[in-house]
Amino acid sequence: MPSRVAVLASGGGTNLQVLLDRFNHEDHSPARVELVVGSRPGIAALERAASAGVPTMVWSPAEPALLLQRLEADAIDLVVLAGWLRLIPPAVVHRYQARMINIHPALLPTFGGAGMYGARVHEAVLAAGVRVSGATVHFVEDEYDSGRILAQWPVPVLRGDTPAELAARVLQAEHRILPAVVAALAQGEDPATASWLPGDT
Ligand code: GRF
Repeated sequence: MPSRVAVLASGGGTNLQVLLDRFNHEDHSPARVELVVGSRPGIAALERAASAGVPTMVWSPAEPALLLQRLEADAIDLVVLAGWLRLIPPAVVHRYQARMINIHPALLPTFGGAGMYGARVHEAVLAAGVRVSGATVHFVEDEYDSGRILAQWPVPVLRGDTPAELAARVLQAEHRILPAVVAALAQGEDPATASWLPGDT
């Protein structure tokens, strides 16, 4: 039985699209996106879900019970935050301990935490003058971007990079590691013990 995955998204949903393309069209897939939760109506992620025939719901973190009821009704095994910008209430984090992951567009623990999302992350990376950035997948805990790191992938920061150019390069890394971590967790593997070397996935 494939792992039943719920994806929470707040925006464009390109990470969601990668998961839909990777998992929802294969017969013997280890996972399947069964629910997409949007932070508000009309976001592209909800349109992507509808196009793939995946049920959707709009949810506010002010109503933790509503999400928990739906996740349980849909027998969700794994929750993926993919471009989700709000803090997840503790009741949900605790119910999905070690079954909820987040993708962050930087190499945590640096350039993470409250307020560090979207362009702000890449602006901070450029302002710091670091030469390498990348993407991180981690378990979700009560604090923003604080859970155990499961996978990372580096990208170079190039001379003259704008935040948008760096964001686009990091997004490619996100699209590479997120499905790999979902597949590993769905198959009962601990992705953090996987040997992650360039070219592995
Ligand atoms: C990505 O950089 C993701 O890391 C961040 O939101 C951005 C957009 O992601 N959390 P998506 O295209 O909505 O998946």
